[in-house]
Amino acid sequence: MATATVTKGLEGVVAANSGICWIDGYAGVLAYRGIDIHELAQKSTFEETSYLLWYGRLPGRSELKEFSKRLTEARRVPPQIYDLFRALPKSVTPMEALRTAVSALSAYDPDESAVDHDSNLRKSFALTAQMAMLVAAFDRIRKGKKVVEPDPSLPHAANFLWMLHGEKPIPAASNTFDIALILHADHEFNASTFAARVIAGTLSDMHSAITGAIGALKGPLHGGANEAVMRMLFDIAKQGGDPVEYVRSLLAHKKKVFGFGHRVYRTEDPRATHLRRMSEQLSRDSGNTKWYEMSRRIEEFVKNEKKLNANVDFYSASTYTTLGIDLDLFTPIFAVSRIAGWTAHVMEQLGDNRLIRPRAEYTGPEYPVRYVPIEQR
Ligand SMILES: CC(C)(COP(=O)(O)OP(=O)(O)OC[C@H]1O[C@@H](n2cnc3c(N)ncnc32)[C@H](O)[C@@H]1OP(=O)(O)O)[C@@H](O)C(=O)NCCC(=O)NCCS
Repeated sequence: MATATVTKGLEGVVAANSGICWIDGYAGVLAYRGIDIHELAQKSTFEETSYLLWYGRLPGRSELKEFSKRLTEARRVPPQIYDLFRALPKSVTPMEALRTAVSALSAYDPDESAVDHDSNLRKSFALTAQMAMLVAAFDRIRKGKKVVEPDPSLPHAANFLWMLHGEKPIPAASNTFDIALILHADHEFNASTFAARVIAGTLSDMHSAITGAIGALKGPLHGGANEAVMRMLFDIAKQGGDPVEYVRSLLAHKKKVFGFGHRVYRTEDPRATHLRRMSEQLSRDSGNTKWYEMSRRIEEFVKNEKKLNANVDFYSASTYTTLGIDLDLFTPIFAVSRIAGWTAHVMEQLGDNRLIRPRAEYTGPEYPVRYVPIEQR
C-alpha cells in the first residue's frame, strides 16, 4: 500500500490557485488583488473593497456608485427571519442565530439552487447586505427593542451601527468600523473560506456555503478568538489581578492565550497594526484606556515569553468594546465583513471548479478484519 505524507492541519499545503488574496507570512504582507492592506485601510471603503474582491479590480467612480446603490437596495430581510429570531430559545448565541438565519434565508431566495455566476453575484449582494442587518436586528430583538430600519443615505458600516444602536454614529465610530470591515474582508484559504469553497465545489448553493463558513468561523481557534479575548480581559478586570500574572498562569497551565499566534504569519499580522492603533485612539477619545492598556501589557509579555505576535482578533476585542458593542457580537461582526471574501471565493471556485476531495492516511485495524456474526461476539 502506498504511503503518503500527512500534513496535520494541512499546514503549508497549497490547495488551489487563487487570484483574490496574497499573504507573505514572513514579511507581514497582506494584499487583496495585489493591493496592500495598509493602503486599503487608509484609503478605501468596505464597499470599494468588496467590489475589488468580487470584480478583481478597483471600480471607477460611476461603477462604485452603482455598486453601492445595488448593495443598499439589497438591504431587505424577510420578516419571517425576524420571527425566527423571536422563536429561538433565549439561550441562543448571536453566532448560532446568524448561522440559522443565513440557512433559513435560502428558502426565500428566488433561485436558491442556481450556481451560475450572475445568480451568485446577486446572492453576494443580498447576503452582504443582509448579514449586517441580521446581526443588528438579532441584538435588538433579544434586548426587547424594535428593529431599526436601514437608512439608505448611510454607507454599509455606518448603517450597521445605526441599525445596532438606533442612533446615528459619529464619524470616528463609522470610520473605525469601516476600516475593521476592510481588514477582516478576506484572508486567503483560512478555515471558514476553505469550508465555503469545499461546499461550493460540490455544486451545492451559495447559502449552504456561507452557512458552513459561519459554522467554521464560530470556533475559538478562528473567528471566535475575538470574543474569547474580551472574556479574558473582563475576567482579569473582575478578579482585579495583574494581567501579566493572569496570562503567565494560563501559559504555565499549557493553555492558549486567545488573540495570539497564527498559522501563516511569523511576524506582526498587518491587520493587528491598524487595530492596535484604532483601539488606542478610540480609548483615548473615550477617556477609558483600561482595555487598551491591559491589552498592551499582555501583548508585550506574550511576545517576550512565547515569541508570539498579536493577531487580528486581539485588538479588535478592545476596539469593539470601546465602540459599545457587546462581546458576543464580535464574531458575528467578523462574518459581517468576511462575507465579502467568502462570496468572492465561492465565485472563484465555481469559475474553475473541481470537487475538493482529499485522501486520509488510514490508521485503523489492518485489513482484512473478519466480520464476526453477533452470536459469536
Ligand atoms: C491561530 C492558531 C490556531 C494557529 O495554530 P497552529 O498553526 O496549528 O499552531 P499550534 O497551535 O500548533 O501552535 C504552535 C505552538 O505555539 C503555541 N501557541 C500557538 N498559539 C498560542 C497561543 N495563542 N497561546 C499559547 N501558545 C500558543 C502552541 O501551544 C504550540 O506550542 P508547542 O509546539 O510547544 O505545542 C494558534 O496560534 C492559536 O490557537 N491561537 C489562539 C487562537 C486565536 O487567536 N485564533 C485566531 C487566529 S487569527
